[in-house]
Amino acid sequence: MDNKAWKGNSYLAEKDHSRESLLYLIELAQVLRQERSTGCESPRLKGKKIALIFEKASTRTRCAFEIAAFEQGALTTYLGPTGSHLGKEESVKDTARVLGRMYDAIAYRGFGQNTVEELSLYSQRPVYNALTDEWHPTQSLADIMTMMDHSSLPLNQISFVFVGDGRNNVARSLLVTGALLGMDVRICAPRELWPDAKTQSLAESFAVTTGARIRVDSDPKALLSNVEFVYTDVWLSMGESQELLEKRVEILAPYQVNSELTSFIGNDDWKFMHCLPALRDEMTTVGAELIKRFGPSAFEVTDEIFESTNSVVFDQAENRLHTIKALLVSTLS
Ligand code: CP
Ligand code: NVA
Repeated sequence: MDNKAWKGNSYLAEKDHSRESLLYLIELAQVLRQERSTGCESPRLKGKKIALIFEKASTRTRCAFEIAAFEQGALTTYLGPTGSHLGKEESVKDTARVLGRMYDAIAYRGFGQNTVEELSLYSQRPVYNALTDEWHPTQSLADIMTMMDHSSLPLNQISFVFVGDGRNNVARSLLVTGALLGMDVRICAPRELWPDAKTQSLAESFAVTTGARIRVDSDPKALLSNVEFVYTDVWLSMGESQELLEKRVEILAPYQVNSELTSFIGNDDWKFMHCLPALRDEMTTVGAELIKRFGPSAFEVTDEIFESTNSVVFDQAENRLHTIKALLVSTLS
């Protein structure tokens, strides 16, 4: 393994990187996970400083960046949705130039992809996309790592289906990443929530060279048949208008990952994935509100599936740490 392709570079979207570069990060994450679990991790980022700009809420991504940096000897500064001048008194361009003078790298979670691109352009430092409306590229690394952990097949024979809002950041990242890695990629969504045409053709163009099989369809019966991994995400993403909710629930209810939907798979040896947080009961304020307004069909997954032995969601969450650590180490050490 060598990290020439990553050193000093940004990670704004998977599409900008090669199959080999993405696999390099996952392989490094496997090594780092092993080192951590055997207590022989050596800090490679001593003295490095990383700014974390989060304009949206986060549990996993923020904690993964903070713990990955700490365990590798680096310092982080968290700039949350309030408290910094960004977007109010100070432009992205000015913020980028200031942070670029003080930090070695910047992670950004927020809205438009143009913001993370601007940060990269003006900071002259590696910038990591920690989720935008368009892409969630640190998530897809952990997802593929988790699929590799839980499958006995070679990567190009692994199949997964994303069920739900097929045009959201997580779905688009998975589609492009699966295409780059030559996998069997399926997006199962009502037609109005299919990934945009540009993203679909991008994935198709990668598939020509990698041999990926890509299907986008509305029929769960066809797309879940014989699949290894069933993946879903919330039906309304951060930053989307609440006014969309009623319509979303109406068109996505038939795509809830429940025992009926998963019976289409045709075998018991499948795994459930979710980037989390997952809405599935009244134990959260949003969940309680959803159930009051729409009943139990308002959730993307049932508690039964989420808590079943098919579910690998917490392995997936842990892999966020190892893959983000691999990204930091590759770009900064
Ligand atoms: N999956 C994910 O990005 O989780 P957070 O929103 O908690 O960071
Ligand atoms: N699609 C979700 C992912 C959260 C990790 C969102 O953007 O809110």
